[in-house]
Amino acid sequence: MPDQSSPSPEIMARVAELREELAQHNHRYYVLDDPVVSDGEYDALYRELAGLEDEYPFLYDPASPTQRVGEKPAKGFTSQRHRMRMYSLDNALNREEWDDFVRRVNDNLAGQGLDEPVSFWADPKLDGLAVEVIYENGALVAAVTRGDGETGEVVTHSMRTVRNLPLKLRGENLPALLEVRGEVVMSRADFAALNQRQEEQGDKVFANPRNAAAGSVRQLDPKIADERPLRFLAYGLGALEWEAGPAWTTQAHVMAGLKELGFTVPPHGRECATADNVHDHFEDLGRLREDLEYEIDGVVAKVNDLALWDELGVTARFPRYAIALKFTALQARTILNDVEFQVGRTGAITPVAILEPVSLAGVTVSRATLHNEDEVRAKDLHLGDTVIVQRAGDVIPEVVEAVVSERGADAVTVVFPTACPSCGTPLQRREGEAAWRCPNPQCPEQMRQAVIFFASKAGLDIRGVGKRRVEQWIDEGLVATPADLFFLSKEQIRGFERMGDKSTENFFNAIHGAKEKASLARLIAALGIDLIGEQTARILGREFADLDELAGLGMEDWRVRKEEDSARAKEQRRLEGIGQEMMESLVAYFASPETRVMLERFKEAELWPTNPDAGKQRDEPGDTPLAGKRVLFTGKLVDMSRDQAKALAEAAGATVASSVSKKLDFLIVGEKPGSKLDKARDLGVQVLQLEEFRALCSGQGNEEPPAQGNLLDMT
Ligand code: IVH
Repeated sequence: MPDQSSPSPEIMARVAELREELAQHNHRYYVLDDPVVSDGEYDALYRELAGLEDEYPFLYDPASPTQRVGEKPAKGFTSQRHRMRMYSLDNALNREEWDDFVRRVNDNLAGQGLDEPVSFWADPKLDGLAVEVIYENGALVAAVTRGDGETGEVVTHSMRTVRNLPLKLRGENLPALLEVRGEVVMSRADFAALNQRQEEQGDKVFANPRNAAAGSVRQLDPKIADERPLRFLAYGLGALEWEAGPAWTTQAHVMAGLKELGFTVPPHGRECATADNVHDHFEDLGRLREDLEYEIDGVVAKVNDLALWDELGVTARFPRYAIALKFTALQARTILNDVEFQVGRTGAITPVAILEPVSLAGVTVSRATLHNEDEVRAKDLHLGDTVIVQRAGDVIPEVVEAVVSERGADAVTVVFPTACPSCGTPLQRREGEAAWRCPNPQCPEQMRQAVIFFASKAGLDIRGVGKRRVEQWIDEGLVATPADLFFLSKEQIRGFERMGDKSTENFFNAIHGAKEKASLARLIAALGIDLIGEQTARILGREFADLDELAGLGMEDWRVRKEEDSARAKEQRRLEGIGQEMMESLVAYFASPETRVMLERFKEAELWPTNPDAGKQRDEPGDTPLAGKRVLFTGKLVDMSRDQAKALAEAAGATVASSVSKKLDFLIVGEKPGSKLDKARDLGVQVLQLEEFRALCSGQGNEEPPAQGNLLDMT
């Protein structure tokens, strides 16, 4: 009979001891690979603990070693924003690209007067699923997939089952908040065994360890993840709040620190004093690759000194302090059956090889890109050729070359068309471009692709309105441009097979819901303008008030804006990611009469997002005393979360640094500040009380911040 009362001190002590011991054995087994008890002994301890916990529900603790497999999440999958964005990595595909990266790092630092030699941390690039695990006061509270880098899926329930992931951090002095990033992986051996079991049970067989890992984590039922041999290998940090924590000033410290806290880190990570050492390590691992426990597709090199991460910063997509050196792709032989010429939404013609299906590193490949005409010519492909195809990581498979010695006598050369396969318009090739394009803005296929893209996830994300549906509407003449979607009546939508009242209603609501939800940035991205991807659209969506303002810019206006922008302090630049070609593409897109008509139709449909904050920061950089300053918080911030404080600082134009250095302008202290305060004082960094910071943000004290002391005293 379960006993709701509090058990005797002896029992409480025994339970604590068992939990401690089991966690320790778990760590030895799964992390250190050095168990000191037999499975039988472990099971006996486990059963004793589970028995006591059953008897005394009062003792429930989610961090207990018995509590790895819990309930399904009640609300299904939910998403959660990362406190700090999870960036992806730029690739270096050969020695030159690695050397280029190193040169960029050195030049960048030299430009800031920092020219000591840079050392690196190099660890294997694991092929799995990126996840962030979050600990508060030492206990695992959440796990979130990388997702799009800003927001991911909450997978806490599955991640708790990952045996080498601590439910509780090890040690006495623990951080208030710790976010650890890493890769969920499955070893080759575990993967093979899992697939064998799946096959025997008539279940799905996975293409590769990465799919198996990702598919297991993203399951609602934690029992499934529990049965899968997943491991979490930690490679970095997100947010960290740790008063009197250790001073981690290098990536090497972080990795050693994560190990001490109980995490498994990727094998073969090492500090490399020089760029050459990194490349040597990369080549060594390339040779070892097939014998490694986990599948890897390269090496990630990170600048070792964390202070330099702040100096180097990030581009729109990648950090400038890290890069992935990728191994050469895996190859296979197959037959080239045909070549299709696809018309994209910007009119570019892409040749696509139709292949006899072949398995490449576990994935079946039946189509591969041939990029453009020059590639087709250079490869001198003939239909029926035996060809070598390759796939590198996530990259679209490509045809490397034809095996000429195996070519039949009657094989016909692949010829590139001179007219658009969709509308017959003669193709054009712009100077300096590899792609042939259909110049006809009314080209049915281009328009079709543009509408499909507009409705897709990368566009306005109109749920349920997929490729097939859009094609039907286009074929029936109901829709020709994205704007037409918003003028579809319910009667028109209902006119299709399998469209009952319910689904008609759903489509209608999805279309109009997406309209209401659309931000300016989203809409710009959805237009699918050549060279204007999601990141660039975001920059534009921040900068401009609405589409009219953006559409009104000629090249000269752009030039002036860019000049103004480059004159600003680095942290305040807003147009850094926008290059010459993008501007040209924007100007050309908005100059076209078809675009003008479409914008008017958007307005008519009330799809007209505006951005009230447009250019705000741009026009008043000097206005708040915090603009352009680097700040850092320490101590407990009364009635304000760290996120709120950060948002406040950023809204005032400041950037939030990650550590105390001479470059810091203000250390903002809450209650019980720790070692950061001492360090700031040593370095002569100005210290602000939280109230002072608040006052500065809210616009009081609109001049320079006080040279010393307390703004409150002045009021
Ligand atoms: S570091 C700024 N280290 O690669 C540093 N990433 O292309 C960002 N990955 O989504 C990541 N192994 O999931 C890092 N040893 C490693 C990695 C690694 C695999 C993945 C990671 C990320 C992707 C970036």
